[in-house]
Amino acid sequence: MARLLPSPFSHFITLSLLIFYALTPASAGENSGFVRRIDRRLLGLKREKLSHFRVYWHDVQSGPKPTAITVVQPPSNTSTTFFGLINMIDDPLTIGPALSSKLVGRAQGLYASASQQGVGLLMVMNFAFLEGKYNGSTITVLGRNMVFSKVREMSVIGGSGLFRFARGYVEARTNKVNLTTGDAVVEYNIYVMHY
Ligand SMILES: *[C@@H]1O[C@H](CO)[C@@H](O)[C@H](O)[C@H]1NC(C)=O
Ligand SMILES: *[C@@H]1O[C@H](CO)[C@@H](O)[C@H](O)[C@H]1NC(C)=O
Ligand SMILES: *[C@@H]1O[C@H](CO)[C@@H](O)[C@H](O)[C@H]1NC(C)=O
Repeated sequence: MARLLPSPFSHFITLSLLIFYALTPASAGENSGFVRRIDRRLLGLKREKLSHFRVYWHDVQSGPKPTAITVVQPPSNTSTTFFGLINMIDDPLTIGPALSSKLVGRAQGLYASASQQGVGLLMVMNFAFLEGKYNGSTITVLGRNMVFSKVREMSVIGGSGLFRFARGYVEARTNKVNLTTGDAVVEYNIYVMHY
């Protein structure tokens, strides 16, 4: 191809290629054995797909078997938004809005009250699936949850197992909340790209 080009230009290309090849092995060689490029098929990663999951997240704060416990109390009793509160969770994820419906996973992690205006949570959760081929695979959700908004969007920042290289987002909608006990059921629609 270079031969078809005018001569000064072809010399420029040849020179550029020479410089490229001269520099590349040197910089890769510095860390040989430390990093290499591989074909994604070697990891069984064929075609990226988009999946939509719908689960119901049960935050049980009351009763003898709470799945959400306060590990840090808000340091100030003057905050109406519980600013500073941290709850650790191991919340059931079920297929329907009733807690008695089929368990398909657990949301494990924590949420922290991170807003001084309006109740806004920082959510940090692994959705650990238990169902079928997804059993043992996880999706990691991190985001901002203004709990009194109708729809809250948070990021899927990664995953494991069948969700390696996952990215996407979730939409959370409150299904039921008891403001006395704090118990809540939230519908999560998860849109995730994965292999
Ligand atoms: C906050 O706590 C202080 C000290 O215990 C107390 O004096 C005050 O009344 C409390 N304020 C509210 C709004 O509960
Ligand atoms: C999920 O995997 C665990 C551990 O391998 C196993 O004990 C359990 O029975 C599995 N659950 C389902 C629903 O397949
Ligand atoms: C909230 O929970 C309390 C305590 O279990 C219960 O008495 C009350 O009826 C519940 N409120 C609603 C709206 O379900």
